[in-house]
Amino acid sequence: MCPPEHFTVEYKINPWMDISVPVDPSLALKQWQLLHDTLTELGHAVHVLDARPGLPDMVYAANGAFSVDGTVYGARFRYPQRSAEAEAHQLFYSGGPWTFADPVHVNEGEGDFAYLPGAYGGLILAGYGFRTEPAAHAEAQEILGRPVVSLRLVDPAFYHLDTALAVLDDRHLTYYPEAFSPASQRILAQLFPDAVLADRSDAEAFGLNLVSDGRHVVLNAEATGMAAKVQAAGYVPVPVELSELKLGGGSVKCAVAELRL
Ligand code: ARG
Repeated sequence: MCPPEHFTVEYKINPWMDISVPVDPSLALKQWQLLHDTLTELGHAVHVLDARPGLPDMVYAANGAFSVDGTVYGARFRYPQRSAEAEAHQLFYSGGPWTFADPVHVNEGEGDFAYLPGAYGGLILAGYGFRTEPAAHAEAQEILGRPVVSLRLVDPAFYHLDTALAVLDDRHLTYYPEAFSPASQRILAQLFPDAVLADRSDAEAFGLNLVSDGRHVVLNAEATGMAAKVQAAGYVPVPVELSELKLGGGSVKCAVAELRL
């Protein structure tokens, strides 16, 4: 995770960002800290990346890389405003017990990649249409050695895969079908017939932008409908207030890059 020390909305690269709506910096930090503490209290080890001035979106740490079983596939950002974030993440990973792979193709890390270790022997789902290039899906497949299923995102409001789909445990997921092309919806239904289906209001409340440890599902407090759905599916919803991060077009999942060692 990376604290929102320099978080602002000063450019617009997704439909949620409105440069005329001010962010409350102290509230943003407070909410981020609460998310951080919620994860540590659930027993997770959280590494913190130093925020850098001039990179207001760095709080969305999920976009900096995607790791599977000790191999880290680095990010290459779509927009110049965020491109320098990739190097900060690379520096972090260069210090750890991982193999880091520098990408050739544009991809925004866990924003557009999800992993289900228990599905089909280990399956990667990858989004394209707004940020990540389809060529990066093939690149990730080669580097990570897992099959990658490409899914086309069609609604600009859900511009990253992690705004429209979330992994609930090793082999189950939840998603908002209409965020995907008809063919991609069919593929998701074929691969995951028992998925928890979300609706537009769940997605608009950033309810799919969640982090699950297989039991606890940490999600935006505004997403009450989504909390009820995951509870009905047997998980424990853990709501956190993240109103400020939503102003930049993100929530829980965007703020957390998972390390799969
Ligand atoms: N303002 C950021 C952007 O548009 C938000 C990124 C959200 N991150 C995510 N993983 N969906 O790039």
